[in-house]
Amino acid sequence: MRQPLPPRPRLLPLVGALMAAAGLVACGGDDDDDDAARQAELVAEGKQIFRFDTFGDEAKWTDTLRLHEVVGSAVDPTTALAVGLKVDAEALPPDVVAGIGNGSISLTDPATTVALLKLNAVVGLKGTVETVNGQDRLTRLGTTCALCHSTVDDSFAPGIGKRLDGWPNRDLKPGAIIALSPALDAQAKQVFNSWGKGKFDPRFNIDGVNQPVVIPPAYGLEGIHRITLTGDGDDVAYWNRYVAVTQMGGLGTMREPRLNIDITNGTEDRVTSKLPALQAYQLSLPAPTAPAGSFDVAAAERGKAVFEGAGGCAACHSGPKLTDANIRLHPPSDSVVEPETPSYIARSATKMVRTSPLKGVWQHAPYFHDGSAATLADVVNVYNTKRSLNLSAQQRNDLTEYLKSL
Ligand code: HEC
Ligand code: HEC
Repeated sequence: MRQPLPPRPRLLPLVGALMAAAGLVACGGDDDDDDAARQAELVAEGKQIFRFDTFGDEAKWTDTLRLHEVVGSAVDPTTALAVGLKVDAEALPPDVVAGIGNGSISLTDPATTVALLKLNAVVGLKGTVETVNGQDRLTRLGTTCALCHSTVDDSFAPGIGKRLDGWPNRDLKPGAIIALSPALDAQAKQVFNSWGKGKFDPRFNIDGVNQPVVIPPAYGLEGIHRITLTGDGDDVAYWNRYVAVTQMGGLGTMREPRLNIDITNGTEDRVTSKLPALQAYQLSLPAPTAPAGSFDVAAAERGKAVFEGAGGCAACHSGPKLTDANIRLHPPSDSVVEPETPSYIARSATKMVRTSPLKGVWQHAPYFHDGSAATLADVVNVYNTKRSLNLSAQQRNDLTEYLKSL
């Protein structure tokens, strides 16, 4: 991220422009300034899109799945929190905060959910609430990127707090939410309900195979040019278009010849023009640093040596982001999850796997794309066993502390 530049006399840009026009400027200081301002604007725009834009996906969630009917009449806030939905405390006016605090606003009344949607306070859900005969009714419902890729810091209550964009919502049960739809048959509901917490299958509606993956972070991706577990895209925007159109149901087009995908929703494009800002916002989100005191500093230092030496980790987890993604993808067998049946990797465009970047890895348990390692200690044990590393108990502990420090 660029630092804001100090203010300076207003005449200078004009002088700069005149000199540039005369071919006299080589340093480009003013251009840098303009670039920084444009970049900041783009990031701000992208933040709004990431949090609040549905790309017109109400066509899917409202017109097809009719989720607004259920959410508006039968999902009270307690139920919503139980399926992992989060509430943005900063969107709540003081009287609502007080009402929730003293119990005068009921968290077991579906009308409260509608009121929260009206305040735009449910992270990742966008509702349209109309007042008919003095009664608030939810008439449209859509989803945004924040549904899966934001959570809150629980500062007000569990599930209610300040937004943490880019942090995967590992409490969310996307399948259970979709399964609320009255438009689905029992068989479909069974599949969606099987996904569980923090997992989603972004290929199920394409290939009919059921093998969900954990929702990854959308932070720490700056400088990584292979996106998704399988490196399907060279940039974030590729996958944002994929999800916005094929998963969220946004209006626009996604073509992916490698997977025989050619999908157009609606007659207008509400996705393409938003991708540059959306990407800029995600790339501006740094991986969160490990909280002080959350790991043993001396052990972590020793663990770095294990990571680079006896553990052999740096052979793939190399460079500043601890991934060789920009250099190569790997055959499926390089993932400790394989053999996986059915194989998620085999369903992708590349049919290869990307070495996971590890910055901020302390934050987003469980690990591996199937969530099979509950903790970083489990990760180390899996590698130690599967790769026959023969690390001592001390080495394994040190390596774990190092991972916790990243
Ligand atoms: C219903 C949940 C859900 C929603 C909504 C969603 N995603 Fe994702 N996202 C996922 C899952 C699951 C993956 C993992 C897919 C994979 O790696 O194959 C993913 C992967 C990603 C990645 C790749 C991360 C990496 O490490 O390369 C990015 C970036 C991303 N999503 C951004 C977005 C954006 C932006 C939106 C809105 C346009 C969005 N997602 C909407 C679930 C979701
Ligand atoms: C041959 C290349 C390779 C080596 C060597 C390797 N990794 Fe990995 N690592 C990967 C790949 C590929 C993945 C993604 C696996 C998956 O989810 O399918 C991964 C995933 C991980 C994850 C999970 C990240 C997440 O977001 O869930 C951690 C943690 C990790 N590796 C740590 C290590 C450690 C510690 C070592 C050394 C003991 C190591 N890796 C050695 C390629 C490698």
